[in-house]
Amino acid sequence: MLKNDLLLRAALGKEVERAPVWLMRQAGRVLPEYRATRAKAKNFVEFVKNPELAAEVTVQPLDILGVDAAIIFSDILVIPEAMGLPYGMIEAKGPLFPKTIKTASDIDSLKIAEASDLKYVMDALTLTKKELDNRVPLIGFAGAPFTILAYMIEGSGSKTFSKAKQFLYTQPNLAHHLLQKITDSTINYLKGQIQAGADMIQLFDSWAGVLSEKMFYEFSLRYMAQITESISSIVPVTVFAKDAHYAIEKIALTNCNTIGLDWTIDPNAARKLSHGKTLQGNADPCLLYADDQVIVEETKTMLNQFGKQKYICNLGHGLYPDLDKAKVKLFVDTVKSHSY
Ligand code: CP3
Repeated sequence: MLKNDLLLRAALGKEVERAPVWLMRQAGRVLPEYRATRAKAKNFVEFVKNPELAAEVTVQPLDILGVDAAIIFSDILVIPEAMGLPYGMIEAKGPLFPKTIKTASDIDSLKIAEASDLKYVMDALTLTKKELDNRVPLIGFAGAPFTILAYMIEGSGSKTFSKAKQFLYTQPNLAHHLLQKITDSTINYLKGQIQAGADMIQLFDSWAGVLSEKMFYEFSLRYMAQITESISSIVPVTVFAKDAHYAIEKIALTNCNTIGLDWTIDPNAARKLSHGKTLQGNADPCLLYADDQVIVEETKTMLNQFGKQKYICNLGHGLYPDLDKAKVKLFVDTVKSHSY
């Protein structure tokens, strides 16, 4: 079976010799090798739809950085597209939807996506699995329904997501209708990813932080709980709700296996709130701009705070494109050679 299954054992709360480490956005612009492969595709969307290229960049960080897992190269925005709302990616700016969701009939016209609508992702997973040759687990993922709704209504990235929030305040019933359609699509999609070889799943609620606590429970966590309920009996599931650490205790009450943490919470505080679930995170990506000595010291402190068991080492969010690959490697090496 898997030659290195540290990540799966940690997620399942089983004993490990050391904490596994992987990085959000490890398949990304921080690697010159990624940028070279990326240049072979016409644009980002075509890149994501090319299983050979997607598999190639998914495997790159294993050899280059020595991480303990691969995460399939794709994007959370493939779900809106599969439901009938296509997206583009503007260079150096971010996502852009030519059409957005405004009315009940816009929502009615969306379909519930099936795994077969995202065959290119399944093909990328199958190919990657072959290339990995059981070296490490392969992580599949999806956006949390609220984060997906936020892009479908806003039409692009935003500091405040005020249009999406306006929709929640003024059309809560429609919002719930849309969130349920996204949830049903996401469950189909994730089950397909697991069939195609994903060993573990992460949900990214990247914009949880724009919601109040009450609204996070009503419009986000409920739907993530439905997803964890359907998926965690098949493979381990991680819930990462960025900037929502007030919700750790409630997230721990879902069927998720691991709780992803951003850098705004202290590891000891998170442990107290997490009801024995595995924790993942939470170094500030900007730590990797620091001097080598600072990176090593801070990383070791974090490792000791979380402890060896029930812990998956990662950053608190994705790598920034302008980080130095050597510093990223130093972070990974520090985790792998740490003695407790
Ligand atoms: O983590 C990984 O290595 C796997 C690949 C991955 C990508 N996107 C590739 C990508 C994952 C897990 C995602 C998820 C994703 N996509 C999220 C959730 C995670 C998070 O960052 O909060 C979100 C919000 C998106 C939407 C998205 N995709 C945005 C806002 C952007 C533009 C911002 C940016 O970093 O440029 C993207 C583009 C994107 N997705 C890139 C990559 C490697 C960069 C685009 C490029 O290569 O030109």
